[in-house]
Amino acid sequence: MTGPLTTVDAIPVGGGVIFAAERVVVTQPTAGEFVAFDTTCTHRACAVRSVAGGAISCFCHGSRFRIADGSVAGGPAPAPLTPVPITVTDGEIRLGERP
Ligand code: FES
Repeated sequence: MTGPLTTVDAIPVGGGVIFAAERVVVTQPTAGEFVAFDTTCTHRACAVRSVAGGAISCFCHGSRFRIADGSVAGGPAPAPLTPVPITVTDGEIRLGERP
């Protein structure tokens, strides 16, 4: 069993944090709600690079994904980001098993 990825306090409300080594971006769309996605852009597989203004952005060709559900908000990406299972327990966020 590995340790937690991060803590809930580290994820801004209405924003998110990219964990490049783990290839996951964790967001908190509304207070107390945490979701995570694979950082691999669904356009040409660059890693997404920033979370700002309610969107996760890929700088390769400008795709943007909504922090709430990973759906496409703009750019050439053909599909949403892939969700990653997480668990939130005692203020800690752990990665679940990826398919
Ligand atoms: S690889 Fe992300 S926009 Fe093209």
